Amino acid sequence: PINERVDDLLSRMTLEEKIGQMSQIERANATTEVIENVLSGGGSVPSEKATASVWQKMVTAMQKAALKTRLGIPIIYGIDAVHGNNNVYNATIFPHNVGLGATRDPNLVKRIGEATAHEARATGIPYTFAPCVAVCRDPRWGRCYESYGEDTRLVQLMTSNMVTGLQGDVPAKHPKGVPFVGGPKKVAGCAKHFVGDGGTQRGINENNTVMSFHDLMRIHMPPYDNAVIKGISTVMISYSSFNGVKMHENKFLITDTLKNKMNFRGFVITDWQAVDRITNPPHKHYYHSIQETIHAGIDMVMIPYDYPEFVADLVKQVKQGQIKLDRVNDAVSRILRVKFAMGLFEDPLPDPRLTKELGAQEHRALAREAVRKSLVLLKNGKKGEKPTLPLAKKAKKILVAGSHAHDLGNQCGGWTIKWQGKSGNNLTGVGTTILEAIKKAVSKNTSVEYSERPDKDDLTKSANDYEYAVVVVGEPPYAETAGDNQNLTVPSPGAEVIKDVCGVMKCVVLVVSGRPLVIHPYVDYMDALVAAWLPGTEGQGVTDVLFGDYGFTGKLPRTWFKSVDQLPMNYGDKRYDPLFPFGYGLSTKAAGGHN
Ligand code: IFM
Repeated sequence: PINERVDDLLSRMTLEEKIGQMSQIERANATTEVIENVLSGGGSVPSEKATASVWQKMVTAMQKAALKTRLGIPIIYGIDAVHGNNNVYNATIFPHNVGLGATRDPNLVKRIGEATAHEARATGIPYTFAPCVAVCRDPRWGRCYESYGEDTRLVQLMTSNMVTGLQGDVPAKHPKGVPFVGGPKKVAGCAKHFVGDGGTQRGINENNTVMSFHDLMRIHMPPYDNAVIKGISTVMISYSSFNGVKMHENKFLITDTLKNKMNFRGFVITDWQAVDRITNPPHKHYYHSIQETIHAGIDMVMIPYDYPEFVADLVKQVKQGQIKLDRVNDAVSRILRVKFAMGLFEDPLPDPRLTKELGAQEHRALAREAVRKSLVLLKNGKKGEKPTLPLAKKAKKILVAGSHAHDLGNQCGGWTIKWQGKSGNNLTGVGTTILEAIKKAVSKNTSVEYSERPDKDDLTKSANDYEYAVVVVGEPPYAETAGDNQNLTVPSPGAEVIKDVCGVMKCVVLVVSGRPLVIHPYVDYMDALVAAWLPGTEGQGVTDVLFGDYGFTGKLPRTWFKSVDQLPMNYGDKRYDPLFPFGYGLSTKAAGGHN
């Protein structure tokens, strides 16, 4: 019946109404006159501390305006809920995808998808631009942490489970490629960024991916097949190019491959202002960019920079026969199909009963479980010495140091309230820093001293007072291009803090980062080393394993290189000489019998 409803509605739409459906407007520009589809891109939030009910009110007002239009077609409102509903104060922030890859636990990823859907619905939002199914082949890429890992099979497994968690289990015999959303607590997902975004040259964001079609299909395409099988609703196109052709113009990959060969029946959306970005006067004008991208198979344009011009241009091109009406009908049918599949016509408005889902206790417990399973133990004790971990809870005095020990913003990384995230402890609301978690974990009589950057002379004098130190260093938050980095050194003064502290006392180093960093020169100083990725709000997941209530089980989702001149270097490459290989990770036994 969905197809019949789609055909019926389509037959009653004017060309202008159809083209309206093909666009998605930024929240701040959505007026009651121009309202077809909306997004809060890159954390464009109503206000930093907006509650679930503020979001619900905003979405309700927009939806009511849409329902008052001639045909009453509801809007679909999309956000980047990429590690929980990370747009909202007091939400549960889960580890970024790189950490989920390290857990090797597909069922956990499915449960995180479910919790994310519930926290998005709590704010009245039915659509997320997730999961990112990139196979990141070069950690210099600023979006590497949004990838589950460098291995296609690992990304496939996590993709299937995240899509199922967000959208619900596709029923047996559900036709391949038809979008599926299993009820009003689920959300529509978006597999992104199609295709080869994780394979660009030198890991530069939006750059060119140069490889054979065979390798593209072998390395980067398979996760899309998993997403399609699981009924993914939408696919977002990558800003990057494939062998010099912008993906947004690539008819062969979008239409012939994704839609026709793989049978994807949901809608294809552009990245933010991507149509404008391929406009390059004097040779290429906006008018032609619209033509080429729609012709290539784009169904919905995210942020046409000038909405009235976009509608006018597209109407004109259809009337003049430069763009076929069939293509427009196909695009609109796909969009309506997703809206029907989501139940938006039946339940267009936010449900205030779901408010309590935001930051719910069971979601925080799930995030804590994810953190402890994501940690990868890379070193445990100096050669010939006893294992350093787990740490003693009953120590007399311990030192905690480093820029990432007491900073929730650093712990969460990019895409956290703000597009780029932000260092500091005032952005996310509820959460526990690693320092706070350590204080909760150790015995009452343990004195925990904290210094972001201890003085070297003082350290030398007082070293014997401490039983051990926990040093937490890492990267500041970033997102997209801002995170591209060709040297990947431990940001200053991280390396100095490691040398100063670990040079004089027993120490465990935690690296809080979206990817491996250059730590080879400092490993000998450390007694133990843990990759903590970007764990999110639940710092107690870190102390659960550090102090032995649970064992370490995480495995590297990426190769840990020695130096950047080895990059790109991935598992299976001919010249493979890593510091720690893909899949590496020591384990410890849990004192409490957990594991
Ligand atoms: O979904 C994102 C995409 O991953 C990167 N550019 C902006 C989009 C919307 O915020």
